Amino acid sequence: MHKTIDLPILYFGTPVVLISTLNEDGSTNIAPSSSIWWLGKSCMIGLDGSSKTTANLKRTHECVLNLASANMVEFVDRIANTTGSKTIPLHKRTLGYRYVHNKAKEAQLTTQPAIKVNPPRITECQIQLEATVDKIHAFSDAPIPMFAFELKIQNSHIEECLLTGDKKQYVDPDKWHPLIMSFRKFYTTNDYIHSSRLEKAPVETYRIKNSNSITGKIFNKIIRRLYKKYSL
Ligand SMILES: Cc1cc2nc3c(=O)[nH]c(=O)nc-3n(C[C@H](O)[C@H](O)[C@H](O)COP(=O)(O)O)c2cc1C
Repeated sequence: MHKTIDLPILYFGTPVVLISTLNEDGSTNIAPSSSIWWLGKSCMIGLDGSSKTTANLKRTHECVLNLASANMVEFVDRIANTTGSKTIPLHKRTLGYRYVHNKAKEAQLTTQPAIKVNPPRITECQIQLEATVDKIHAFSDAPIPMFAFELKIQNSHIEECLLTGDKKQYVDPDKWHPLIMSFRKFYTTNDYIHSSRLEKAPVETYRIKNSNSITGKIFNKIIRRLYKKYSL
């Protein structure tokens, strides 16, 4: 029998990402976040309006999404209740948050330069995605402003041992185990439980045509025209 209740938390299994952004003085800020979902080569991340990462993203429009693996749980947890904002907002003070200027050092993580964006990558993260901000949406009417940042992935760096395929161009989900947050506890993906019908189509059908090439431009033009009826 189901009980009807008011759940305080709905996060039931979302991947943990360490977002690196640049502060005003050029130093790096790192923030763990788990409100993230994907649509093609774009993704949406949800952030508290008072966080340093939000301020940095609004100002610089770029970041690196460093996807945390299961074996990085201790690094992530070390900076769980920290903020790069010198002024700690009331709700974070109540939760025991403290200001940390150098979160990479606090977490015992190291950084390396990115290629297309200015914030650095976190070396220990096996998957690092350079991203730029496409759009910023005010997310809800909650008392604390929340924002959904629509990000476009510009560059992907994957640890070679995770790759599969003839040309080593895909991530093997049996080799990479993301850190997952579920109802405030950390989990990972270890149990392959069933094949998926989505797997039947060649993975290349998921690759969006490169719109910079002539074929890509023609392809995208045709697709846009065909699918116009589904637009808002
Ligand atoms: C595992 C984990 C997941 C988190 N997910 C989110 C999230 O999705 N959105 C968010 O705003 N804060 C999230 N937080 C809290 C942020 O890390 C926190 O707001 C932090 O102060 C952000 O750092 P900053 O102020 O330096 O940007 C999460 C924290 C942890 C440890």
